[in-house]
Amino acid sequence: MHRVAAQRLELLRTRTSEKWTAYPPDVLPMFVAESDFPLAEPVASALHRAIERSDTGYIGDDHGATGRAFAAFADRRWGWRVDPSGVRTTTDVSVVIVEALRALIAPGDGVVITPPVYPPFFDLIPEAGGRVVEAPLAPTRGGHELDLEAIDRALTDGARAVLLCNPHNPLGLVHSRDALAGLSEVVDRHGAVVVSDEIHAPLTHTDASFTPYLTVSDAAARHAIAAHSASKAFNLAGLKCAMFVTASARMTEVVRRLPAEVEERTSIFGRIATSAALERGDAWLDGVIASIEDNRRLLALLLEERMPAVRHREPKASYLAWLDMREAGWGDDPATVALERARVAVSSGPAFGREGAGFVRLNIGCSPEVLTEAIDRLARVAPEAPRA
Ligand SMILES: Cc1ncc(COP(=O)(O)O)c(C=O)c1O
Repeated sequence: MHRVAAQRLELLRTRTSEKWTAYPPDVLPMFVAESDFPLAEPVASALHRAIERSDTGYIGDDHGATGRAFAAFADRRWGWRVDPSGVRTTTDVSVVIVEALRALIAPGDGVVITPPVYPPFFDLIPEAGGRVVEAPLAPTRGGHELDLEAIDRALTDGARAVLLCNPHNPLGLVHSRDALAGLSEVVDRHGAVVVSDEIHAPLTHTDASFTPYLTVSDAAARHAIAAHSASKAFNLAGLKCAMFVTASARMTEVVRRLPAEVEERTSIFGRIATSAALERGDAWLDGVIASIEDNRRLLALLLEERMPAVRHREPKASYLAWLDMREAGWGDDPATVALERARVAVSSGPAFGREGAGFVRLNIGCSPEVLTEAIDRLARVAPEAPRA
């Protein structure tokens, strides 16, 4: 399989995005979910062509082209038949979540999340007028899964919605069709709704199979809105384009009633890049997934060899690894120690919820050299490391 190689560190350090400006140059940034791969060629050339024609005005009507591009991508990648008229764009997935929830719940309603989970979920729910209700993932022998009983209890106690992370950040957990079908039954029984954040779906690894939530049952199609974007897989977060995806007349109508401005704020560059990525990005995406899978294996080897007290389970989607440092003597917030002593910036576990105490999230969307250097730096300062 062809691999897409990450850019060299010297070039990366000239980027002006958050990952490359948040810390001084002696820090290796392995935190925010930006990847170090070069832009896919079809995306870069679509953007170059837009610049050549000075196509930088207000976003116009694309007559459903983005919806058709997403539908074709979803069919090719996941066998999911999407009706293109159920796809609308906005700036980013966070806005899809906030606007979908705002339209679906009443102020003060409980919205269930499943920590440890993407930290902004704790803020997006109050932004939409809701109240965070936690139903943590349940540990299993093989990893983690949705705790359907806890979600059921939360809905029985009055919560009205579930904000699902599918696949789940930070564990790289790809929920099974059975688990999602079980969720749809529980939600349907309570007459509640789901917003399914599927931003990491295009980065599902080859040994897992992504299930779009809207496909698990008729009930799911009726009670859910999915959030999709090419931005995570193709590293386009700064270009601002994401999609509401619906699969029922009820939810299509909910999205249609949103203020027109929600869609009109989509960035024109974001939409151009998204269409190019979805239409012509498959080969690049397969190459990136292969590189991430190489890094996933490399990380397991490096940890086993150099930091054996750190526990982790290989992610099955995306480029984020969730490291359990609790038995390695790093304290409740190992990210602070990693930054101060090893000059490696990782995401702080406790930001993902109480369950994240003693954990960090490591971004492995980088070159094998950078990943090796990061683990070397951490291993050198690790409390468990043999004293020189
Ligand atoms: C699960 C999840 N949802 C949403 C986002 C943010 O997406 P956006 O930048 O489109 O708001 C991220 C970013 O990493 C994410 O991991």
